[in-house]
Amino acid sequence: MRTADTLLAAAHRAGADRLDAQLLLLHAWGRSDPGATGRQRAWLLAHGDAPVPEAVAELFLALIDRRVGGEPCAYLMGSREFFGLDLAVDPRVLIPRPDTELLVEWALEVLVAASAEVAGTARQVLDLGTGSGAIALALKHRLPALQVDAVDASAEALAVARTNARALGLDVRFLQGDWLGPASGCYDCIVSNPPYVAAQDPHLAALRHEPLRALAAGADGLRDLRIIIGTAGTHLHGGGWLIVEHGYDQGPAVRALFADASFAQVGTRRDLAGHERCTGGRVIGGKPPPMVK
Ligand SMILES: C[S@@+](CC[C@H](N)C(=O)[O-])C[C@H]1O[C@@H](n2cnc3c(N)ncnc32)[C@H](O)[C@@H]1O
Repeated sequence: MRTADTLLAAAHRAGADRLDAQLLLLHAWGRSDPGATGRQRAWLLAHGDAPVPEAVAELFLALIDRRVGGEPCAYLMGSREFFGLDLAVDPRVLIPRPDTELLVEWALEVLVAASAEVAGTARQVLDLGTGSGAIALALKHRLPALQVDAVDASAEALAVARTNARALGLDVRFLQGDWLGPASGCYDCIVSNPPYVAAQDPHLAALRHEPLRALAAGADGLRDLRIIIGTAGTHLHGGGWLIVEHGYDQGPAVRALFADASFAQVGTRRDLAGHERCTGGRVIGGKPPPMVK
């Protein structure tokens, strides 16, 4: 019978990354636990000479073949951790990225501040292009009193998001449609991680396993950001925020779109790599939020 070490060595020879191979072996062995990846990897390192059942070894080597062929680890394992939540993912949805946690943190800041300004009211948030539900579910998980709506054009993506919401016991209203089309009424905060890659960008080739609709946005990558920034203001209460994620080199163009749409307090935050990643702005004037108990 093959051992964990001999299988990991075979994966290495096939060209697989060491961490990916460890995670896939734990997954094939039924020993992966999204909440305890570090502990599970430590177990694997300490049990390199453990015999691996033949069926597990075969499954592992098949997964390694697919990984070396370019399929993302998250799809092979069927899950990805985001903001402390274990989310089911498959090729119907974009795999949530760690950079998007910046957007969630910023939205939480403005929503907590809004709640402090008008105590006792239920804050309302809208997530545009929800995909797996990552942003909407992270916000609802952190601030359970929030009323969260989440839109996606893809019925398939919404099926994944609904499955995640059910599994996590989080009450989010999912709506199918084109950006702000399904939105009725006004929100305290609108968040979006829309597609923002230019259609001819060579990086798209490396992302071929993820839905193109989640990634590409016209010739300059700004098609969807233009629509969202140009139309979100009419669905925000006075003082409400729009916060969007964008490409590392799109900050100046996105700030110009916010200025054209008359947003105030426009600012950009950088991701851990130091790249401009999220831009937000505030609607000044307009209707104040209602006093909803
Ligand atoms: C970059 S993915 C973001 C997914 C998720 N919010 C996240 O951060 O992981 C963009 C999402 O926008 C959705 N989308 C694309 N065009 C849309 C449109 N016109 N209206 C609504 N959603 C759209 C895609 O289906 C995809 O789920």
